[in-house]
Amino acid sequence: MAVEERSSPAVPVAEPLARLQDVFKIYREGSIETVALRGASLELPRGMLTSMVGPSGSGKSTLLLIMAGLALPSAGQVILDGQDLSRLDEAARARIRGERIAVIFQSGNLIPFLSALENVQLAQTLSGKLRRNQKLARDLLVEVGLGKRLHHRPPQLSGGEVQRVAVAVALASEPDLLLADELTGELDSATADMVMGVLSEVWQQRHLTILLVTHNVELAARADHQLRLIDGLVQRA
Ligand SMILES: Nc1ncnc2c1ncn2[C@@H]1O[C@H](COP(=O)(O)OP(=O)(O)OP(=O)(O)O)[C@@H](O)[C@H]1O
Ligand SMILES: [Mg+2]
Repeated sequence: MAVEERSSPAVPVAEPLARLQDVFKIYREGSIETVALRGASLELPRGMLTSMVGPSGSGKSTLLLIMAGLALPSAGQVILDGQDLSRLDEAARARIRGERIAVIFQSGNLIPFLSALENVQLAQTLSGKLRRNQKLARDLLVEVGLGKRLHHRPPQLSGGEVQRVAVAVALASEPDLLLADELTGELDSATADMVMGVLSEVWQQRHLTILLVTHNVELAARADHQLRLIDGLVQRA
């Protein structure tokens, strides 16, 4: 019997899922200009958790908003899968955001008068993916360890629980890029560890690409790919 032989093609170097190229961001308020990013470049390798640390005011949140397509750079490129988000119109950017990108902030991700389950379901509805999987919202909350907190509203939850709901909300749109700004910033270290454990689990389950902005150098050091932002410029940590 003939054995089919396949030539092994050279393994292509995987394109990063997302990257920033020479990004500048200048905030203008009247005559005052603040240069928040001054030529920042970075790559977010597919399926990898990248951490970013940097002093207060170094431009981390600005960079994350630009990567998410929620703010436009003053100059430079914001590439997601080969497409420059900064050149798209607002509607096209919003569509890509809804389908592919999720952002978690330090606080304020949740609607206070909706239950944990309703918060996740709302995110799912907004992403247009509710019909595909009715059970997803509940499953996500179980996955982040909140199966017994489905009907609690955010004010009735602890800080760590709120951030775990925020993780579930972020996952509801089934994104491939997750951007988190100080996810554990308001938590004590044991709770921060627990939330990071949950994030790490969901990351491994889904082959997600994550950018984790944090002040916590210890948490940042656990990532395989570590960056530092100093004065609006990205350096390898
Ligand atoms: N909307 C805005 N309008 C004007 N200036 C802004 C705006 N947002 C941020 N800045 C300024 O841009 C610079 C970078 O801010 P940014 O919030 O990105 O820093 P950061 O690294 O996230 O800081 P922190 O660690 O304190 O969260 C700061 O000087 C800040 O004052
Ligand atoms: Mg910030």
